[in-house]
Amino acid sequence: MERRKVIAGNWKMNMLPNEAIDFITELTPLVKDTKNEVILCVPFIDLFYALLNVQDTNIKIGAQNMHFEEKGAYTGEVSGKMLKSIGVEYVIIGHSERRAYFAETDETVNKKIKSAFANDLKPIVCVGETLEQREKGEQVEVITKQTKLAIEGLTPEQVKNTIVAYEPIWAIGTGKTATSDDANTSIQKIREEIAKNYGKEVAECVIIQYGGSVKSENAKELFTKSDIDGGLVGGASLKAEEFAKIVNY
Ligand code: PGA
Repeated sequence: MERRKVIAGNWKMNMLPNEAIDFITELTPLVKDTKNEVILCVPFIDLFYALLNVQDTNIKIGAQNMHFEEKGAYTGEVSGKMLKSIGVEYVIIGHSERRAYFAETDETVNKKIKSAFANDLKPIVCVGETLEQREKGEQVEVITKQTKLAIEGLTPEQVKNTIVAYEPIWAIGTGKTATSDDANTSIQKIREEIAKNYGKEVAECVIIQYGGSVKSENAKELFTKSDIDGGLVGGASLKAEEFAKIVNY
């Protein structure tokens, strides 16, 4: 089946609200004719400004994290219900930086995905191996296990609406990209894992992106592979012109 391409920017901890507004003003005309889906995952502080400024455009807005509880004594956290209340559509869950620096586990990732769906948000779930795991030959085992645990207990319909981002950790922010064939093979393994538990029909619907040093020069090579359904873009999503080139690969 023909899956759509989804290109999501992950700004990480960058961009002040005024910069976010300027960025969206510049990006809007550059991507208005694309048939690909365009998402900007922005810091919490920018969400409201970003949402106001993407009205009447084809740009969608996502957050970069959420808590799995709806409310309560969790100082500093933001819930899925809160994100939904202002009109956020997407949320990145389990980014490797959150797993590495903020004690995110397969278990919290699974809880967050369930809470995202309970609040009508679409999760972008990140999986990926470290360089050490890759060198030990554990790559496939790591990414299929992360995938299995992330989606455990979801309904088939929810799985179909989950976006997975395969991001080899050694390729994030390093300028090193997986070769397109390598990324495609890893993504096929993730899809096979989903098929094992949910069947081929469901697995074929899932959008699986590649992430890790995507830029305008390598976007086409990556995104035209059979199983790579777009990308999660960090550094190269911080300049509107460059990000537009990736969207319009
Ligand atoms: P990068 O980041 O494009 O800067 O490598 C990707 C990501 O972390 O999502």
